[in-house]
Amino acid sequence: MSNLTDQKVIDGKAMAARLREAVGEQVAHLQTHHQVTPGLAVVLVGEDPASQVYVRNKARHAGEAGIQSFEHRLDASVSEPALLALIDQLNHDPAVNGILVQLPLPAHMGETRVIQAIVPAKDVDGFHPVNVGQVAIDGQGLTPCTPLGCKLLLEHQLGDLSGRHAVVLGRSNIVGKPMANLLLQANCTVTIAHSRTQDLPAICRQADILVAAVGRPGMVKRDWIKPGAVLIDVGINRIEEDDRTRLTGDIDFPAVQDLASAITPVPGGVGPMTIACLLLNTLQASYQQLGLPFPDGLAERAWQAQATTC
Ligand code: GUN
Repeated sequence: MSNLTDQKVIDGKAMAARLREAVGEQVAHLQTHHQVTPGLAVVLVGEDPASQVYVRNKARHAGEAGIQSFEHRLDASVSEPALLALIDQLNHDPAVNGILVQLPLPAHMGETRVIQAIVPAKDVDGFHPVNVGQVAIDGQGLTPCTPLGCKLLLEHQLGDLSGRHAVVLGRSNIVGKPMANLLLQANCTVTIAHSRTQDLPAICRQADILVAAVGRPGMVKRDWIKPGAVLIDVGINRIEEDDRTRLTGDIDFPAVQDLASAITPVPGGVGPMTIACLLLNTLQASYQQLGLPFPDGLAERAWQAQATTC
């Protein structure tokens, strides 16, 4: 097996597989020593095709890691009070340690109200204001899965991130804002750039670390890149081409690949890490609900242990 740290194209798929395996080992530990099987409830409202794929993958990977998964599929026309009643039931269900409501929700629902109905201890998405605040204050609390996956990939690649200039392209609540908070927590100098930022290429050229999360295929061009930068591409854009769907990122991968010191591909970069981090968060929530200390550095140890056995 290769040493993943040396690879210029970061193999998020392999790293996620190792992380899921390490989560699975800790799940087995909880079962053996505490007679507890972590449970993850995933709620899908409506039939958005991309959301259906994500939810199916989340349930499959949870099952493979030994986490019990509870799927709730609701019709797109379901009322908000009915969804809130389901969340209340899951909040009180001792078999459920983590709750995820797949976004986006249908337009007639209040996303903020729905997110805030989830009890913070079970908010494995890390979207509840209590967790958002905790992450911003001290990096504790349940952390949104995609930014957490990006941070783990970056630390694996670069080690200590202190003093690096990180530019986060995009300011969503799911990725951009929590990513910026995590990088700040890791002592980076952080710039958040967005659709109203002036001279985006010049800002991005300052980046030692560039995280692109805007949902615009191939937007980041060669002349936006500082040679030697580490590039993390969060974009998952679906392009219809010759009767098939191709996935592509926000970074023009072929144009920038030789300039970067490391880069995540799409697919196979950040995407698999998001699901692995959801399982990690479910494990963390389970530990915390049992009043047990959560083992530190699980991801780093998973990658190190496997690299040394190669
Ligand atoms: N939709 C797109 N990404 C996410 C995510 O990380 N969590 C949830 N709940 N919905 C999403």
